[in-house]
Amino acid sequence: MSSVLIGHHRLRWSSRLPSHLDGTASGVCLESQHEDFSANTPRLSGGPRRRSPADVTAAWMHVRRTGWHGMNRQATLAHGRRMLASLDATMLGTDAAEVSVVDLLNGYAGELAIDFCLGQGNADVAAAVVRRAAVADRLTGSSLQFPAWLPLPRVRAMVRATAHLNATLTTHVRRRRADPVDQPQDLLDLLLANTTNPLTEDQVVTLVKANLFASYSTPGLALAWIVHEFAARPAAFDRVLAEADALHTATGSVLDDTRLPYTAAFVKEVLRLYPPVWLMQRYAARPTVLGEWDIRRAQYVTFSPYLLHRDPRWWTAPEEFKPERWHHDDAPAHRFAYVPFGAGPRVCLGIQLALYQLVVAAARLAVGYRIEVTSDNVAPTPQPALTPVGLAARFTPRTGVLSH
Ligand code: HEM
Repeated sequence: MSSVLIGHHRLRWSSRLPSHLDGTASGVCLESQHEDFSANTPRLSGGPRRRSPADVTAAWMHVRRTGWHGMNRQATLAHGRRMLASLDATMLGTDAAEVSVVDLLNGYAGELAIDFCLGQGNADVAAAVVRRAAVADRLTGSSLQFPAWLPLPRVRAMVRATAHLNATLTTHVRRRRADPVDQPQDLLDLLLANTTNPLTEDQVVTLVKANLFASYSTPGLALAWIVHEFAARPAAFDRVLAEADALHTATGSVLDDTRLPYTAAFVKEVLRLYPPVWLMQRYAARPTVLGEWDIRRAQYVTFSPYLLHRDPRWWTAPEEFKPERWHHDDAPAHRFAYVPFGAGPRVCLGIQLALYQLVVAAARLAVGYRIEVTSDNVAPTPQPALTPVGLAARFTPRTGVLSH
C-alpha cells in the first residue's frame, strides 16, 4: 500500500499512481465518439459471432439511447416515495446505535438500485446481484486481469454468477412481458412499454443489469460523504435543515426536490470534493496524440475527477467547501472540470435519478434524524470507489417527523 498527499487529504492505494490529465485532455477522452477513445462496453449476445469493438459499442449505444427514455422524471418520481420509505426503514433499523455509515448506506443503495429497476419484492434478484458483486470484487481487487476463458476458480465463479443473474433477470422480463401493467412503476415496466423502438429480451436484460451494477454502491457512498460533511460543516448543515424543515412543514414530505436549491448545491459540492468515481478510464481505439502523450492503440488512459475537481486552474478556493459556488458565477471555468458523472456520449445514465435520490435523501436525513458522527480522522480511501472508511454515526429519529 502506498499513499500520496493531495491538498491536505491523504489518498491510499495499491501502487499504481495515475498521472493527472488536465480538463482539456480528459475532455478529449470523454467527448470522443469512440473513434479515438472508447469506454469498456457491456456485451450483447446475438448478431455476428465475432464482433469488432466498434460493433459492440454501436449495439450498446442503440440500447443506451432507448434506456434514456426509461430514466425519466416519471420513473424517478414513482420511485421517490418507496425510496424514502426504504431510507426510514434502514435508519430505524439501526435503533439509534452506532453503525458503520458506509455499510448501512451501501445496503440501502443496493435496495434502491433493485427498486428503481424492478420494483419491490425481488429477493431472488437481490441475492443474484450480491453473489455476482462479491465474485466481481475478488476479480477487480486483483492487480491482474483474467480473461473469461482462463479456468481459474475465481473466473469460473464469475461466469457462473453472471449466468445465474442473467437467468434470474430473464425470468422477470418474461413474466412482466406476459402480464404488462397500465401504469409503469419501474425501469423494466418503462422499457417494456416502449413499443416504438422495442428492445429484445437480451437487450433489456443487459440494460437492466448495467443499471443495477452502475447504481449498486455509488449513491450509498455519495450519501455517506453527505453525512460526513453534515458533521464537518455545521453552518451549511443548518441551512439544509432549515430548507428541508420548511418544505416538510408546508407539504408533509421532502419529495419535491425543486424546492431544495441549497440542498442541491450542498450535494453538488460534496460530489465535487468526494466524487465516488474518483478515477475513470478510456482506451485508445487507434494510435493518437493526447496533449504531450503519444498513445498506442489499446492503451488505457486514466484520469481523475477527484484531481480535476480540486484543480486551482479552474476553481476558486478549490479546497474550500462552498455550496454557494453553485448559485453564483463561480462555477468552473472549464466544462470538463466537474465530472462526477462523467461526460460525453457515455455519461452516467442515472445522473438525474442519482441527483434526485441524493438531494431528497439528504433533506430527509437532516429533517428526520439527529445525526451524531462518532468517528474522526476519516480518510478518503479508493476501494476502488472513493470511500469514507471508518465513518461511524448514530441516527436518532427526531420526534414528530417520521409519522408524516
Ligand atoms: C451518486 C451516484 C452516481 C455516480 C457518482 C455515478 C457516476 C457514474 C460515472 C462516473 C459513470 C461513467 C461515465 C463515463 O464513463 O463517462 C457512470 C456510468 C453509468 N451510470 Fe452512474 N453514477 C451514479 C448513479 C447511477 C444510477 C442511480 C444509475 C442508474 C440507475 C446509474 C447508471 C449508470 C450507467 C448505466 C452507466 C454506464 C453508461 C455507459 O457505459 O454507457 N448511475 N456513472
